[in-house]
Amino acid sequence: MTGFSHALVTGGAGFIGSRLTRRLLDDGLRVTVIDNLTVGQRHAVPGDACFVHGDIRDEAAVGDALTGVDCVFHLAAQVTIRGSYDRFYEDLDTNVMGTARLLRAVDSLHVRWFTLASSMAVYADAPSPTPIPEAHPTQPVSPYGVGKLAAEGVSREILAARGIPFTAVRYFNTFGPGQTYTPYVGVITIFVTRLLRGQPITIFGDGEQQRDFVHVDDIVAGTVATLGRAQGTYNLGTGRGTSLNQLAQLLISRLAPHQRVSHAAAHAGELRFSVADIAAARAALDYVPARSLEGDLDTVIAEIAAR
Ligand SMILES: NC(=O)c1ccc[n+]([C@@H]2O[C@H](COP(=O)([O-])OP(=O)(O)OC[C@H]3O[C@@H](n4cnc5c(N)ncnc54)[C@H](O)[C@@H]3O)[C@@H](O)[C@H]2O)c1
Repeated sequence: MTGFSHALVTGGAGFIGSRLTRRLLDDGLRVTVIDNLTVGQRHAVPGDACFVHGDIRDEAAVGDALTGVDCVFHLAAQVTIRGSYDRFYEDLDTNVMGTARLLRAVDSLHVRWFTLASSMAVYADAPSPTPIPEAHPTQPVSPYGVGKLAAEGVSREILAARGIPFTAVRYFNTFGPGQTYTPYVGVITIFVTRLLRGQPITIFGDGEQQRDFVHVDDIVAGTVATLGRAQGTYNLGTGRGTSLNQLAQLLISRLAPHQRVSHAAAHAGELRFSVADIAAARAALDYVPARSLEGDLDTVIAEIAAR
C-alpha cells in the first residue's frame, strides 16, 4: 500500500468498518471515519481515528470527511436483506444515493484509490452449492442486492471516467467479534445471542440453504490487500459452504443441547446457495482465508456472552 497516507472509511463505526479502521491505523495510515451511528457505535471507532459523525448523504459532512484523504473504503450501508423489503426506500437512498453523493464529492486530484464493500447479494441464486465465481450472473433477488449492484455499477463508471482506480469486494456472510445484534443480519450473532438468552432459534425455510461464513479478519485482510494493487471485482469468502441446519447443530451442541430448532416459511430475497469461488482474490490479492467457522466459534460465543 505504498504511496497512501490517509484513508476514509465510511461506516467505520460498524462491524467490519471498525475492524478495518483498526487494521489501517496499525498499518501506519491516518484514518478518518464517517458514520451516522444508526447501527454503528461510537466506542467501536478506534480512538486514534478522526471521527465525523455524519451521513454519507450530507454534502457538508462528506466534504469534511474527505479532507486530506487519498484513498476511500466505502462500507457505509443499510445492511438488511429481509429488512430491505419494508425499508426499501430508505435503504436504497443510503446504499445507492449515498454512494452517488460520495462519488460526487470525491476529487481526482487527491483521491487515488476507491474500494467499495459489495455483497454476495448481487448474485443470482445458484442451482447447487458449487462455489460461484465473479462471472456468475448478477441478478439480485432482494432490494438490498439491487442497491449493492447499482452502487458497484455507478462507482465503476464514474470513477473510471475520472481516472480513479476502483475495486469492488463482494463479501460473503461475515462473522466475528463486534457484530451488532439486529434481528435481520448476521445469523451466527442472532443464533448465539438467542441461545445464550435461553431462547429458541428459528430457521427460515428447510435449513438446507448454504452460506459461506467468513471471519471478519479475513474480510479485512482481503479489503486492505486491494489498496493500490488490484482493480476489478473480487469475491471474499472461504470457498466452503455450511447449511443453516449444520450451523444450528454446531451452536446448539455447544450452548443449549436441550433447545430445538423451529422452522418458519422461507423469506423472499434469501439465496438458496451462496458460496464464494475465491480463486480470483487468491491470484490477484494473495487472499488466503486464515480462519474457520469451527475454529473461531468458541471465541465468537465468548465475545457475545461478555457483552
Ligand atoms: N456483514 C456481512 O455479512 C456483509 C456481507 C456482505 C456485504 N457486507 C457489506 O459490508 C459493509 C459493512 O457491513 P457491516 O456488516 O459492517 O454492517 P454494519 O451495519 O455494522 O456497518 C454499516 C455502518 O454504516 C453506517 N451507516 C449506515 N447508513 C449510513 C449513512 N447513511 N451514513 C453514514 N453511515 C451510515 C452504520 O451506522 C454502520 O456503522 C456494508 O457495505 C455491507 O453491505 C456485509
